[in-house]
Amino acid sequence: MIFEFSSGAVIFRKDQDGKILFLLLEKANGEYDLPKGHIEKGESAVEAAKREITEETGLSVEFIPGFSIMTKYFFYKNKSKVLKKNKLFLAEVRSSKVTISPEHKGYSWLTFEEITEKIKYKNTKTLFKEASSYIRKKELMDKLNSEYAKLPSSEKIWNLSKRLVPGEGPLNASVMLVGQAPGKNEDESLRPFIGRSGKLLSSMMHKAGINRSDTYITSTVQFFPPANRLPTENEVELCMPFLMRQIEIIKPSFIITLGSLSGKVLTGVESIEKEHGRIIKRNSITYMVTYHPAAALRFKRVLELMSEDFKKFGREINAGTIEINKE
Ligand code: URA
Repeated sequence: MIFEFSSGAVIFRKDQDGKILFLLLEKANGEYDLPKGHIEKGESAVEAAKREITEETGLSVEFIPGFSIMTKYFFYKNKSKVLKKNKLFLAEVRSSKVTISPEHKGYSWLTFEEITEKIKYKNTKTLFKEASSYIRKKELMDKLNSEYAKLPSSEKIWNLSKRLVPGEGPLNASVMLVGQAPGKNEDESLRPFIGRSGKLLSSMMHKAGINRSDTYITSTVQFFPPANRLPTENEVELCMPFLMRQIEIIKPSFIITLGSLSGKVLTGVESIEKEHGRIIKRNSITYMVTYHPAAALRFKRVLELMSEDFKKFGREINAGTIEINKE
């Protein structure tokens, strides 16, 4: 069998009323297409997608982080079976002016509903459905984060850092990890779990067969508590509604709670020492309770126990039919 790899993107723009319009290119045979093409030797999938977009549309685009979908299909070329894999990203443009290449005879900007009428392939319909849902999630998350970032200035007494460290990862992730609160490194970089705890967490996930970049990582309180103190009850209470709204937007199948605070507020577990490794199914979410990686950095025994928990969670996550990412 021959393997072929291409990449490209679902391109969208918002019209003056905020309506989402997707770009479809029209091939000479009348079929509709996305800007996409072969990944050349030495090129990454993103680089190939950028090049194809420029060549086929002349548009300058902004890639939406976290979205990538792999579509696959078979066809025959000179009697040989070919498996074609397409890695598709999501990109936004501000301009509607497209300069098509000789490969296409036209283009249209269409709503999701119009596209589902025009397109005949099921996986392309699914692709646009996923893309529409992702755009909606991004709008909701951006709105939530800008509201959350204002929390320090709306409170009379505020003893945490004033800088929000938002969650990070694909908004359609099946696995979400919830820590306690950002540390100093996270406060400086505005990214969760990038310090020593974060590095240990990534390595444990990797060993458990969970790819960190497929997960959404956040904390119960998303502002750095000075000197790394535990957030107060009042601080947790103020931040909880935002964490709950993040969960509502992401809609994960699994939530791994890291440490006593997130374990307690999300599952009611009182003692991590006694209950780490527990898997709790509640409504449509499977919660997995374990230690915080900062504790595993301090105590060898905790490191061993937490690594075991992660291996068990990895098996549970990978056992089902649920894919942990959309590839
Ligand atoms: N610990 C957390 O709980 N969250 C972070 O973002 C970093 C460290």
